[in-house]
Amino acid sequence: GQAGGMPVAASSQGGNDTASTPTLTILYGSQTGNAKGVAQQFQAQVEAAGYTSKLVNMADYKPRQLKSESHIVIFVSTHGEGDAPDDAIELHEFVSGKKAPKLGTLKYAVLGLGDSSYEFFCQTGKDFDSRLSALGASALLPREDCDVDYEEQAKSWGAKVIDALKGDFNVAPASQTVAVQTGSAAQAVASHTYSKKAPFAATLIESQKITGRDSVKDIRHIEISLEDAGITYQPGDALGVWFKNNTALVAELLSLVEVNGDESVTVAGETMAVADALATKLELTLSYPNFIKAYQEATASSSLAELMEDKATLRTYMAERQIIDIVRDHPSKIAAQTLVDALRPLTPRLYSIASSQAEVEDEVHLTIAHVDYEAFGHRHQGGASGYLCDHLEEGGEVEVFVESNDNFRLPENPDVPIIMVGPGTGVAPFRAFMQERDAQGASGKNWLFFGNPHFTQDFLYQVEWQAYYKTRLLTDITLAFSRDQAEKVYVQHKLIEHGKAVYDWLEEGAHFYVCGDAMHMAKDVEAALIAIIQKHGAKSEAEAKAYVVALRKAKRYQKDVY
Ligand code: 2AM
Repeated sequence: GQAGGMPVAASSQGGNDTASTPTLTILYGSQTGNAKGVAQQFQAQVEAAGYTSKLVNMADYKPRQLKSESHIVIFVSTHGEGDAPDDAIELHEFVSGKKAPKLGTLKYAVLGLGDSSYEFFCQTGKDFDSRLSALGASALLPREDCDVDYEEQAKSWGAKVIDALKGDFNVAPASQTVAVQTGSAAQAVASHTYSKKAPFAATLIESQKITGRDSVKDIRHIEISLEDAGITYQPGDALGVWFKNNTALVAELLSLVEVNGDESVTVAGETMAVADALATKLELTLSYPNFIKAYQEATASSSLAELMEDKATLRTYMAERQIIDIVRDHPSKIAAQTLVDALRPLTPRLYSIASSQAEVEDEVHLTIAHVDYEAFGHRHQGGASGYLCDHLEEGGEVEVFVESNDNFRLPENPDVPIIMVGPGTGVAPFRAFMQERDAQGASGKNWLFFGNPHFTQDFLYQVEWQAYYKTRLLTDITLAFSRDQAEKVYVQHKLIEHGKAVYDWLEEGAHFYVCGDAMHMAKDVEAALIAIIQKHGAKSEAEAKAYVVALRKAKRYQKDVY
């Protein structure tokens, strides 16, 4: 049989007496766990079909092994500006690089996960597909690009993959299934019973603005009670928040398309009033290409058709607008069901948790930027942030669930030093880290880099950091208030300024964490990190980059960016 193949019992089907069957390798690259969940679900489907399979996180996969595979199925998500999740970076670079081998005998299938409100939708999946094909591998079936509501689509695609494998896996059902997984991932699943699909109805305890009166930002500290839920979470985890769209927004949308809110529609098999569907089931605050397409078709708007001709113009137009703006610009009567069908299902928003249960027990704290601005003559608010920060009263109900994140964890050893880079709301998980380390009596050094526009207005959790600094839990705090002087000062500038010490900490074994903006900050911080290692480690650029790769593989460089 194939290298890497699992010997299984001889088949009695169709007179085929082959003594071995190829092994199916299921690879996933996941940042928040969605791709992993889909891969696990696919493995269950594969198992039910009786095929032997191996489930492997790309981070634990040796790229050179690709040469000896016969069948692989890839599940991979995309983040920020078309970026691969950390787990997938190495394999992604390998198949894209000059050293990639010919893969003429490999059969593969790719499922990409992404968010169609971003320009580089499912880019990492697309890259794997095109690279494997360029290396001579053949696709078992076309790649599938899944949007935020991926569950059903992934399931039916999985069934098609199994169909496509039938010819090659024409043997009696094999009993073995080899799961290569990390222990902590398995534990994470068992820790609570509430989930995205079955959230807990929690109570808002407190919502407090923690930026100053004159701040350009409105950042809230939010406390939610999980009392009686028995929910547990770890520092580094995120809280998924389901929200309702604003009633005024729903009413305006209905009036623009001349639909009566009481009219009945069907959404995901459920019949309900269109006003309720818009409030609780459909995405109204982001915009996405499928809406424009469907709305244009339904309304035969020539102005929208014109707009759709130029991709770049359309992207800019969409990036600046919510669904309501598109409809305001091109109002037209349409049928209630047509409107509903044009809209994407509402998805919960994930917020990095800002507390540790060692300190807050059955509460969970968040640090949320309230998206609230004027544009095109109208007030606009974010979906979840508008709900949590404005529409929900203290004591009100909000449906939540924990999304565990094994890619953002404190070192297991409390003596290990950590460097935390968290400008803006990116500081949230580091508040959780400090609460946890405080409770542990951890002796590892802790260094926080924080940035925001102004010291007097935007120093989030200032009093807490000062207290931690006093007790020496917080070894150092370095601040970058970007607008307190003529020249912009950002966290990466401060990292470079303290480059020697940063490098020394790394050499002592420090873990390096980055949380916050993915598009600019996290990239600039990574470039600074490479420059620091190059300078203070007397390395070439290539060596410095390899050092960063090694840090990432050792799980000592972790990002939670959005
Ligand atoms: P600015 O808004 O004054 O430009 C949190 O949002 C902080 O991150 C703000 O002080 C913001 O500065 C700053 N910031 C903006 N772009 C950044 C970048 N590319 N790298 C690091 N910080 C950035």
